[in-house]
Amino acid sequence: MSFPEHLLSQTTRSMGVSFIREMIKATKGVEGMISLAGGLPSPDSFPKEQLAALFKEVLEKEGADVLQYGQSEGDDVLKEQILRFEKEPKVLKEELLITDGATNGIYFFTRAVIDPGDVIVCEGPSFNGTLIATEACGAELAAVAMDEEGLLADRVRETIVARRKMGRTVKFIYTIPEFQNPSGRTMSLARRRELIRVARELKVLILEDQPYRDLRFLGTRIDSIWNIARAEFGDEHTVTICKSFSKVLGPGLRLGFAAGPADLIAAMAKWAQKVIVSPEGVVQRVVARFLERDMLEPHLERITAMYRHKREVMISALRETMPPYVRWTEPEGGLFIWLTCPETFDTDVIFHEAAKAGVAYIPGSKFYPSGTGRKNEIRLNFSYATPVDLGEGVARLARILTRG
Ligand SMILES: Cc1ncc(COP(=O)(O)O)c(C=O)c1O
Repeated sequence: MSFPEHLLSQTTRSMGVSFIREMIKATKGVEGMISLAGGLPSPDSFPKEQLAALFKEVLEKEGADVLQYGQSEGDDVLKEQILRFEKEPKVLKEELLITDGATNGIYFFTRAVIDPGDVIVCEGPSFNGTLIATEACGAELAAVAMDEEGLLADRVRETIVARRKMGRTVKFIYTIPEFQNPSGRTMSLARRRELIRVARELKVLILEDQPYRDLRFLGTRIDSIWNIARAEFGDEHTVTICKSFSKVLGPGLRLGFAAGPADLIAAMAKWAQKVIVSPEGVVQRVVARFLERDMLEPHLERITAMYRHKREVMISALRETMPPYVRWTEPEGGLFIWLTCPETFDTDVIFHEAAKAGVAYIPGSKFYPSGTGRKNEIRLNFSYATPVDLGEGVARLARILTRG
């Protein structure tokens, strides 16, 4: 007998299920299937031995402290190390909140500022996990297009003004400025400044989601929006940044952090107190020791070299096999490449053909707010599959996309 649906809350019943999680389930373990779908880091990227040694040491030496209930805001020892590693100017401990991955940071931020019906402006396309989490909080998402330099700041302004004319409250702009999930694009420095200007002029907040910032393989690092707002605009209120150890150490650790104005961080901590009580004590201290012993930089060098190679393999395969009407982004970091097919293609439908041919991807439509998706795009992940499978997976997909 199944559970009586009417006993679930309205909110639960109206909640979307993450297509990505479903897909990972559907394709995992299927014989011969090459998955270019999920956003999983390579298992070879996890520093297993180093972490194993630190878990043992931390439990033996600091177990009494770290197995106890901790502060909802997070462990001070980890905060100190984050401030040292991040080298951000003049950040105070009160401006940091340790979270169970970036997902939690985004959720607490949304909970802290959004009332049902409020509007969030996001990139179109954007990270599907945030879209469904914020929609579940009652937010309405307004997607704004990007060009090669990232989110179009003028369109953001127009969208906010238009929503306000409709009597709506716009609370924040959600952006993934670096190696964006799903498009792989990076916002230029000029565009970051423009976006800050728009947010300040229209008095809305910016939530800068940066899980891939430390996975740069090419090009030069650009200042975070968070940093630019503080250093160039003297503005400590507009931007909150979320970062995560998921893509650099392992998503199973469930560890990330948010940095923002102290009052907003305190408001987010109120939600943390209710939802998670405190972040995981042992994991926080293990990562603190990892940072303290300067293990992160060499580790990042190792994994960025591996991902740089995988990216090259995928891009070479795309160049060699794709029909001329398929275009793609060539990101300088992160985990994803974004394909654009002609308008007549429906990648939701083609997905099933591709799965039969032994390759999985995520259809682009899944990365737009409900009902607004384009149908001719595809997200490919290059971090998880082996280099051989990356080449073969792209070749299989190219055969499906070659028409006529
Ligand atoms: C843009 C973006 N934000 C947040 C997350 C969530 O990461 P975490 O594992 O830290 O919750 C992801 C994961 O794929 C992501 O791509």
